Amino acid sequence: MDRGSNSDSICAGASGIENRPTERSLPGLVQKSAERICLAPPFAEESACNEAIRREPTLEAKTNMDIDVGGIPTPCYLVDEASIERNLKVLDSVQKRTGCKIILALKGFAMFSLFPLIRQYLHGVAASSLHETRLGFEEFGREVHVFAPAYKEAEFDQLLQYCSHMVFNSFSQWNRYKFRVFEHEKHIACGIRVNPEHSEVKIPVYDPCGPFSRLGVTRENFQESDLDGISGLHFHNLCELNADSLARTLPVFEEKFGEFIEGMQWVNFGGGHHITREDYDLDLLCSVIADFKNRYSLDIYLEPGEAIALNAGFLVASVLDIIHNKMDIAIVDTSAAAHMPDVLEMPYRPEVQWAGLIDEYPHKYRLGGLTCLAGDVIGDYSFQEPLKVGSKLIFMDMAHYTMVKNNTFNGVPLPSIAIRERDNRIRIVRQFSYEDYRNRLS
Ligand SMILES: Cc1ncc(COP(=O)(O)O)c(C=O)c1O
Repeated sequence: MDRGSNSDSICAGASGIENRPTERSLPGLVQKSAERICLAPPFAEESACNEAIRREPTLEAKTNMDIDVGGIPTPCYLVDEASIERNLKVLDSVQKRTGCKIILALKGFAMFSLFPLIRQYLHGVAASSLHETRLGFEEFGREVHVFAPAYKEAEFDQLLQYCSHMVFNSFSQWNRYKFRVFEHEKHIACGIRVNPEHSEVKIPVYDPCGPFSRLGVTRENFQESDLDGISGLHFHNLCELNADSLARTLPVFEEKFGEFIEGMQWVNFGGGHHITREDYDLDLLCSVIADFKNRYSLDIYLEPGEAIALNAGFLVASVLDIIHNKMDIAIVDTSAAAHMPDVLEMPYRPEVQWAGLIDEYPHKYRLGGLTCLAGDVIGDYSFQEPLKVGSKLIFMDMAHYTMVKNNTFNGVPLPSIAIRERDNRIRIVRQFSYEDYRNRLS
């Protein structure tokens, strides 16, 4: 890709100094200029087994159609339908090869206008609250699994109404609620979340198996005598990780909980599988799942969130002002704190199309958000051409863990949500107003 070829461009960059630990570039998606996006043939390197699926070009790659983001009201999350489907096809290839079932973790991506597409490939959703469970039931309509660190008495009857699978975080919760489950008119498959106490995640805040974790029952606390009515085990210990992490986790899980797996009908391997990432080892994932399934004949679930929407969307923003304080600072109509909270929480520096590291190109800027938070800084970038008031900036890989986590801090409006459809048209599916801000307050 010739990043410098268009002198009017706001151009894509190399990864930044503090980029997230994993690959965040957009396979197949190339920014031609600030206002035009087109898709390049996806995935340079292929896993042999999955070549057919990964090599299948998206509609955009076939036709090389450009889209114009100039008319989009900013800020706006723009999700590319074809890229979502490409991810779904990769996930479906794992289902087809192994017989496992993949469900969408709503905490990562809950854009229900795309559920009709997603439900063609995935078996259901994984919810973490009453509201996510209801959304899954009403808008997705297949299996609805729920897990929360604890369930509330007042919400429990509604949860029963909406879910098909319920995972408990402790035996005390299970014993508190199990008779209400048994008495319910519908059969609900119940599971216990276990903590294999095996850490793969390096960042402590994202490691559910770290010291004193509240997530899952450790082997020491596992109560075999309370398993009546439990048909599944659930564990979750990954975050943006490759198949080798799962391959190292499973032997530990089996060593600790193997004696109980025999009596189960299903096991859920949690989320954090970065299955749709370019360098993800699909062969290893499939062999690990197939091997497990051979040894214990049961249903295996995976519940990724990020993998469904990875590299499938942008946050389009506009420059509102350029000021100077020992360096040029561009104020944009978005916010790290309000619209891309992982930038501050993880933290990481998101890619901006056609921008480089701070010393890569002649025009250097700090990109700062709209809130009063001094630290509402997206990162430092350089560009081939100077930014101007009105320049559009395209933040990459912004479909997951953004619209599900954003907020209206400072009264900053929420970004609109749009879909780039297969015919290249952009459809705005949601715009937010003063009422959305006001309705969260009293
Ligand atoms: C229990 C559970 N399942 C699934 C997920 C989804 O993980 P990811 O979006 O990283 O695939 C998470 C993320 O925190 C989780 O805690």
